[in-house]
Amino acid sequence: MPGAEEFVPSRARLPGLRKAVQDCRGCGLYRDATQAVFGAGPETAKVVVIGEQPGDQEDRRGVPFVGPAGGMLDRALAEAGIRRDDVYVTNTTKHFKFERTSGKRRIHRKPSQTEVNACRPWLDAELRVVAPRLVICLGATAAQAMLGTSFRITKERGIVLDLPHRDAHVLATIHPSAILRSDDREAMYQGFVADLRVAARTLR
Ligand code: URA
Ligand code: SF4
Repeated sequence: MPGAEEFVPSRARLPGLRKAVQDCRGCGLYRDATQAVFGAGPETAKVVVIGEQPGDQEDRRGVPFVGPAGGMLDRALAEAGIRRDDVYVTNTTKHFKFERTSGKRRIHRKPSQTEVNACRPWLDAELRVVAPRLVICLGATAAQAMLGTSFRITKERGIVLDLPHRDAHVLATIHPSAILRSDDREAMYQGFVADLRVAARTLR
């Protein structure tokens, strides 16, 4: 697979990128998904939040973080004092990867390293245009995409780091979907908000 590079218009702003991503064939994930789900939020955002990939509802609606994980993200950002208007949300890959259960439900499957790498030019274009002061990575896929595959969320979450090659900070934390799957939701949620509060301090 060639990767997304040749599909990314080089000087486009967000509307041009959002339009072009629908024609991306940079990896095989476009085949089964309903549509590409590009990032959402203002070009002036100070914060870019990176998730993993669109979920079932995002795939249907074409907007990132509109399902259950998104609801939890919105609540946690508000509690941490990060204004939603200051945030642009996106994902490491733009097409939903899933398998169907016998019942026809679509279960999320983690994108491979190859797919994350293939989709990277879209994320780079978003970071170029938005030029955030802070990047928040939700979960290992996003954290490793930004900080390298040896990055361990369990050890290095909640710490403000310098984002390689850009004049911005980066902080990795857990993914809200992991909280939704956990038996100890409340403690995990509080830890998530605590990490976001650390991130919020870099904006003052
Ligand atoms: N989970 C993600 O990582 N991204 C979304 O957009 C929705 C759920
Ligand atoms: Fe292109 Fe990314 Fe979709 Fe693959 S996942 S087809 S690289 S937009």
